[in-house]
Amino acid sequence: MHMILVTGGAGFIGANFVLDWLTESQESVINLDKLTYAGNLNNLVSLKNDPRHLFIHADINDSETLKKLLSEYQPRAVLHFAAESHVDRSIHGPAAFIQTNVNGTFALLETVRAYWQNLDSDKKSMFRFLHVSTDEVYGTLEADDPPFTETTAYAPNSPYSASKAASDHLVRAYHHTYGLPTLTTNCSNNYGPLHFPEKLIPLVITNARAGKELPIYGDGSQVRDWLYVSDHCAAIRRVLESGIPGETYNIGGWNEKTNLNVVHAICDLLDELQPKENGSYRDQIRHVKDRPGHDKRYAIDARKIERELHWKPAESFETGLRKTVGWYLSNDVWTEQVLSGDYKNWVNLQYQT
Ligand code: NAD
Ligand code: TYD
Repeated sequence: MHMILVTGGAGFIGANFVLDWLTESQESVINLDKLTYAGNLNNLVSLKNDPRHLFIHADINDSETLKKLLSEYQPRAVLHFAAESHVDRSIHGPAAFIQTNVNGTFALLETVRAYWQNLDSDKKSMFRFLHVSTDEVYGTLEADDPPFTETTAYAPNSPYSASKAASDHLVRAYHHTYGLPTLTTNCSNNYGPLHFPEKLIPLVITNARAGKELPIYGDGSQVRDWLYVSDHCAAIRRVLESGIPGETYNIGGWNEKTNLNVVHAICDLLDELQPKENGSYRDQIRHVKDRPGHDKRYAIDARKIERELHWKPAESFETGLRKTVGWYLSNDVWTEQVLSGDYKNWVNLQYQT
């Protein structure tokens, strides 16, 4: 029986991926997650009685646990989502980013390499290690620069992007040196359901509804290229199925927007779907101190994955954002549990952490 192992599957993209995978396929998933503040088992509540989903509470640095899992379940692929992922947190406390994104990826690669090297030749050639990374490793663009391609030189600017760049280099080296069949994806900013409200889009939706200020760093002219999370999940499935080992694929939404455009679009949707008694949600916008070293613009050239693997995003920013705002409007309990910290309570009870 085939199965896959996912790291970080209780976080935003990982949980969307696991849910998506088990809708599209009968193949079981081992989901290894440390449950940091960003890991939320409520994201996976619909899988509670699904025998195809096995949740393991562990750190990717815990090589012994990982070794046992690999030997017991013999997954045909490891998909690596686990990371510290928030740029602002990396500015305040970079150590956790090095520990998970660099040391953790290294520990994972070492354990997976040992497992892979002992597989029989058929399984060995079929095996894949898929590493989920970010466009932030390429640094920042000026307004008229062409978007990032897979051959753009790395120039990470934040502790977060530097730690992800280091992990990408390790993955590359494990392919080049040991022949481990790796695939690397570098995607743009994701958005959609289950997004932790510390990142721009979910923060603005939840603050707006709570009557709080909507903080825009600096003048709000910075540009991000937004990718709807289910499009990202579909792209990862495609890369896993048909990607060439050793290759890198950029995944983007072809949706470059300034932060101000994004916040206005959210306010306008909320004005339509849940109007305030007086005025517009735009009245809550406040310009605040800029992020140190704030990257001006990210943009992904996603033509390689379209040309070679026939993937392109299904959602425009307008359709994806409408779905996202709709999801938050229908899932107040999820948001309340995240904001109150309640989502951790049963985890503490269950795992005594
Ligand atoms: P997230 O912060 O929402 O979730 C990360 C998950 O990893 C959490 O469940 C957390 O508990 C787990 N985790 C953290 N440290 C761990 C450790 N040491 N061992 C095991 N599990 C650990 O992140 P996300 O937004 O879902 O991002 C997933 C991946 O995609 C990351 O690798 C990130 O760098 C990459 N990425 C994210 C975006 C984005 O817009 N969110 C864009 C590009 C790339
Ligand atoms: P974020 O969602 O943190 O993603 P990233 O930094 O990885 O791109 O931020 C997206 C953009 O929004 C980024 O330019 C920073 C900006 N931003 C704000 O203006 N205000 C905020 O409160 C946050 C969290 C982000």
